[in-house]
Formats: sequence, C-alpha cells, structure tokens
Amino acid sequence: MTIRYAAPGRINLIGEHTDYNFGFALPIALPQRTVASFAPDHGDAITVTSDRADGAVRIPLGTAPGEVDGWASYVAGVMWALRQAGHSVPGGAMSITSDVEMGSGLSSSAALECATLGAITSATGACIDAKDQALLAQRAENDYVGAPTGLLDQLASLFGAPSTALLIDFRDLTVEPVVFDPDGCGVALLLIDSRSRHRHAGGEYAARRASCERVAADLGVSSLREVHDRGPSVLASVTAAATDPVDVRRARHVLTENQRVLDCVAVLSDSDFAEAGRIFTASHASMRDDFDITTAHIDLIADTAVRAGALGARMTGGGFGGCVIALVPIDRVEVVGEAVRRAVGRAGFERPVITRTYAAAGAGPLVTAPG
Ligand code: GLA
Repeated sequence: MTIRYAAPGRINLIGEHTDYNFGFALPIALPQRTVASFAPDHGDAITVTSDRADGAVRIPLGTAPGEVDGWASYVAGVMWALRQAGHSVPGGAMSITSDVEMGSGLSSSAALECATLGAITSATGACIDAKDQALLAQRAENDYVGAPTGLLDQLASLFGAPSTALLIDFRDLTVEPVVFDPDGCGVALLLIDSRSRHRHAGGEYAARRASCERVAADLGVSSLREVHDRGPSVLASVTAAATDPVDVRRARHVLTENQRVLDCVAVLSDSDFAEAGRIFTASHASMRDDFDITTAHIDLIADTAVRAGALGARMTGGGFGGCVIALVPIDRVEVVGEAVRRAVGRAGFERPVITRTYAAAGAGPLVTAPG
C-alpha cells in the first residue's frame, strides 16, 4: 500500500519573528504543496527520493542528529522526533514531490516536515493532535536540522483552510480562523518572489532571537509577550531597561508587530483592505528599520508596489530575501506587476516571479493508491 500525504507552504500575512517571542501572527496556507508518498515495508530504514534532487538517501530508523544533511535531513528529523516521542516508525520507500519554491520564505521545510509526518503516522495509524504534530515537526527542525525557528510555519501548514487566515497566539498555542477573501472584495493578494534566497540556519535569525531574549532578561520577564501584555506604554520601559540600543530596536519591532497583527485582524473583520494594506506597509518599515531583516532588493520591490498603486506591501517570512506580498486592487494588478519588473530590472536584480495567490487548504491525506 502507498500512502500519499500533502502539506502546503505558507505565507505569513503579518506577524514576523513574533512566534518565538510568544506573540501573534496571521498566516495562510498556500495552494502550493509538498506530497510524501510512502510505501512501508519491514526494513530498518526509509529510503527517500525527491523530484528536486538526484539519487536516493537511505535513512536508518535509528538515525540521530548530525547523520543526515541537506533536504533529506527534514525527513530524517521527523523520523527521529517521532521515535524520541515514543512513536513507531516503519521502514519503507518514500518519494517527495513539491511545488513549494525552496528558500523563498514560503516554508518549503515545514511543508516537507508535515507531509513526512502525516505519511508516516498514516502508515502506523498513530493519532497525533495537530498541535503536537506541529511541535514534533518543529523539534525535527530545531534539534535535528539545527535551525532555531519558531512554530509559525508548521501551524500554518497543518491548520490552513480555504479563504481563511489563522490568528495564532503562540503563548497559548491557539489558532483562530479569520475570514480572508480579498478577491471577493476586488483585491488581489500578489506574491512577488524576488528570487533572492535566504537561509535560516545562518546566524542572522539566531542573532535576532538572542536580541529579543536579552531584552526580556533585562526587563526580568521570560519573554517579550509578557512585555506586550503590560499594555501600550511598554516601549518606554524597554528603552529605559534594555542595555543595548540595537536590542531596543529589535524588541520595538516585535512589540509593534504584535499590535499590528491584532489591528490587522480587526480591520479584516470589516473587509477593510485599504487599512490592512497600510498595516502591511508599516510592518515592512519595521522589519527594515528596527529588525533589520530586509534587503535593498526586497525594499525596492515593496516600495515600488506601493508607489504603483498597491494598498500595501511587505516582505513575508524570516527575511534576507524571499518574497514580498502586496494587496492590490484587481484593476491595478498589471500596472503594479509591470512597475515592479521594470524597477527591479533597472536596478540589475533578477526578474521576479509574480503570481496571484489565495488561502488554501491545510495538510491532509490524498487518495490512497493500491501499491
Ligand atoms: C521563519 C521561521 C518561523 C518564523 C519566521 C519569521 O519562517 O521558520 O518560525 O520565525 O521565520 O516570522
């Protein structure tokens, strides 16, 4: 028997670098997905292939961190995390296909983790609650692959639903559906892939995380979420208590970004995409000026989109490249796309890939084919 399990990539509409600070974010699942096809056997390894890489990788069931690297480390990490949590993992042959662009900030890694996890647990019949699945996939990424990321990507991939954004509270791990259907209001969600690639295992992500943790420590609290919960005057106390001025800016991004997520949810409930757009643009400025995770290339795309008539635009994902999203009145889509292509071309950057996108379904099994 072959099990097929699909898990989507994601776009974070707003709430960047808030997840590991126990704040708020508002992602959607993308129509692009990764599919793991798994034929279990009685062997002592999973042999995995990918449509994006040559050759097969044999992962022993007893694999441990450090033994597998590259794309297959996400599969190995999920096997390891499942076994660490006491779940059984059968041997077998797994093949991966995906149309989630890698390295573009759309969470190809979480899609791979969640598809692998779903395929293996479907084979064993293990019932794992979606939040626990997200935690297992995160453990694979943090402790096997070695990327110190939060829970945003896995929760988005597992909980996504059509025409729905997900308000995630990372302190309580609650996921609340928020209607998100800009097309129904004459607005397109444009996804502009800059084609410049990022890497999270790199030091910049970890450095941002460390800054946030230092500010929390300076203030004597366990996370920036506790600072958020003290109310609107907190920025002054952060400035007074934190010792490093760079850290203050990092914390200011996180604290203002949490509020922007909540504001965005409020305006979306009135389908006020003009205001949602302004909040997007403010979020981009905060990532550029305070969190320092955008690039000149990404700033050019976001600024040009707004100048050409987008209601708002912001980088999505961890930063240092990847994708910009823009809310654009449907009759301005062509103009905005053309303006971005021209500005990027003039500046000598690679031609972007611009598509319209929407909120799609989360992870789940596909029809099982007899093997
Ligand atoms: C990456 C990480 C997430 C999150 C975002 C930034 O996508 O994997 O956990 O921190 O960056 O919001």
